[in-house]
Amino acid sequence: MGTDLNESPKREVSLVLNKYEGVIKRYREFLPEIDDKHIITILEGNTPLIKARNLGKIINPDIEIYFKYEGLNPTGSFKDRGMTMAISKAVSEGSKAVICASTGNTSASASAYAARAGMKSFVLIPEGKIAAGKLSQALVHGAVVMQIQGNFDDALSITREIAKDYDVALVNSVNPFRLEGQKTASFEIVDELGAAPDYHILPVGNAGNITAYWKGYREYHDAGKIKSLPKMLGFQAEGAAPIVLNHIVKEPHTVATAIRIGNPASWQKAVAARDESGGLIESISDEDILKAYALLAANEGIFCEPASAISFAGLIKLNGRGFFKKGDVCVLTLTGHGLKDPQNAIKVSKEPIVVPCDKNSVLKAMGLK
Ligand code: F0G
Repeated sequence: MGTDLNESPKREVSLVLNKYEGVIKRYREFLPEIDDKHIITILEGNTPLIKARNLGKIINPDIEIYFKYEGLNPTGSFKDRGMTMAISKAVSEGSKAVICASTGNTSASASAYAARAGMKSFVLIPEGKIAAGKLSQALVHGAVVMQIQGNFDDALSITREIAKDYDVALVNSVNPFRLEGQKTASFEIVDELGAAPDYHILPVGNAGNITAYWKGYREYHDAGKIKSLPKMLGFQAEGAAPIVLNHIVKEPHTVATAIRIGNPASWQKAVAARDESGGLIESISDEDILKAYALLAANEGIFCEPASAISFAGLIKLNGRGFFKKGDVCVLTLTGHGLKDPQNAIKVSKEPIVVPCDKNSVLKAMGLK
């Protein structure tokens, strides 16, 4: 065995793996300028676009279904794409601290990127309504976590006021740099498919992501990279569906806590994305969200959080009324990883079997004896 590392094939592999430098460097020409020295990245983006293997056959064999699995970002959600931009921008402006309101994922992402930048982070979350994984992230990354006795909408309005008057950078999606980063998911989808999908399906909460995706597709269209644009299909939870109802929901409720929002900040932009693309925004019951969530995990091996599964629940709903035609390509964003919210996974699943500690009992429990 040679000892010269330069000749080791292992070393070559590691060089290849390290080539990816995050969304800012990959899509620089489409993003606001950020100096190299200010870029804060944890190598977000570059997430897999996974073709459905089993669910297509069950739901509709005539259409192509792809999952953009954003749960595989560094902090487990799509928020990292926007956070690398927002935090890098804050660093370039000399900010020493960031603040956000969050249903969980934004707080996880903001606190992680702030930690990497050496900045302080403050997060406001609705008391008791945030999945355990997300809370653990904000805490372990060292954020000052404030559980407010109100909902996300209340938290966001306090946060905006504080950011206006004090020297802390606001990193919610009302910060335009967040949406700039998030639009890179559209670029990746097109780069992989070689064209835009016919339909893009995603959850709608504060409505930043649907706005960002639509912006991304349009920019690629303007740059001549795609000839057609997708129709944007957004879904809100029935108990938190202000855009569908066309009025603010004062006390939003849903099992999908990530999208438990009654007054989305990017409301009008989401409506524009819907209307300009010829798409729709509809609502889904908690029951159907959880059914889709369990189906995805059991049939594709893809574990996403309940809010993410609303994309698939939406596809099932539309398919049930003959919405799609043969050959349609549908991309569904699965916004966050299932491990964020283990409690819901356990709730929708069978309990583990308790078995005495011997081989025969195990075989019996396996149905082999
Ligand atoms: N899916 C997940 C997993 C989310 O965390 C969110 C939003 C959405 C979908 C909706 O995206 O707000 O851009 O329409 N989470 C925010 C947060 C509100 O604080 O983590 P949106």
